[in-house]
Amino acid sequence: MTSTSEHRPSSVIETIDREERGERLSKEEIVRLLEISSPAETERLYAAADVVRKRCVGDDVFLRGIVEFSNHCRQNCLYCGLRRDNTALVRYRMSDDEILASAYEIRKAGIGTIVLQSGEDPYYDRARLCGLIARIREKIGLVITLSVGERNYEDYRAFREAGADRYLLKHETSSQLLYERIRPGCRLEERLLCLTALRELNYEVGSGVMVGIPGQDIDVLADDIILLEETGIDMLGIGPFIPHPQTPFRDLACGSVELTLKVLAVARIVTRSTNIPATTALRTLDKDARTMALQAGANVIMPDLTPLEYGLFYDIYPGRAKSEVTDMVTLFTILRNDLQGIGRTIGSGAGHRRSSPH
Ligand code: 5AD
Ligand code: SF4
Repeated sequence: MTSTSEHRPSSVIETIDREERGERLSKEEIVRLLEISSPAETERLYAAADVVRKRCVGDDVFLRGIVEFSNHCRQNCLYCGLRRDNTALVRYRMSDDEILASAYEIRKAGIGTIVLQSGEDPYYDRARLCGLIARIREKIGLVITLSVGERNYEDYRAFREAGADRYLLKHETSSQLLYERIRPGCRLEERLLCLTALRELNYEVGSGVMVGIPGQDIDVLADDIILLEETGIDMLGIGPFIPHPQTPFRDLACGSVELTLKVLAVARIVTRSTNIPATTALRTLDKDARTMALQAGANVIMPDLTPLEYGLFYDIYPGRAKSEVTDMVTLFTILRNDLQGIGRTIGSGAGHRRSSPH
């Protein structure tokens, strides 16, 4: 064996064993894991991620109820159906009372967390959002996750003081070139500063990536995983890109389900105790992908509980609105069956990130 190959473990298991001993994987090793192509090695990768998941976050699958309260967006991301230039989209905003009614349904179903999600909609200014957060917190007692895009530091601080606990802000890609190409007028550096600010304010912070955006390669995806680990992100959303007909990316191919699952699996192995959802985008491309993701490192499901009359218009990518059941009884029956089949249980409580075992 040459000295080079000693530093380049050839088997997946050897690489994962090193990680288990607390050694950090090099970028080269992450690339090699993402490049695995044989079905047998892919299965071993998923199985290793599943072991790390079980050891670090257990068998509970936590539910987060998403309410998409506005589909207005001031941004013009080339990939997203909510982009401001999509004039074909019917825009809506839910009233505070409608949002509260949805929050109540979520609580009633025994789900501990609400995700308030919208495009970047300045109509919900600091005061309006703080009022909403405080009402949900005081009247309904849910853990609140915000997913409302980039805001200024004072907004983040005010939301936190009003009672928000978590904030999702995907960096989408760690390549500055790609980021600035697919999100015109936005800067990666600014995005990363927002993530730092959110950490400083003691939020549990979520970020994540889209797999399959044009120009992205394995090297970029490895950097994405390293960035998620190094910035101490608590929640990782990893989903495939799906082309939307009313966007400049309409003619591109979908991201690969398999590559998305590999990124998820490696991210679990590297970040250990994070919360990782089986994303709706994965399930939109393959109805079995939710179970597959849960067996390759995921431990969270985020059912979309936006009232259907609005949710139909939260048209980020095609097929999304139809992929979720909004009726709670049916939803729970399906979830319980799916989870039972793979030896998992629905978690109770808020499902905060556990402290890292390392
Ligand atoms: N395909 C997959 N995911 C998308 N998102 C936006 N557009 C698409 C698309 N076409 C995801 C992004 C973003 C969130 C609003 O939805 O990751 O963060
Ligand atoms: Fe707006 Fe987010 Fe879609 Fe970009 S990805 S257009 S910021 S909703």
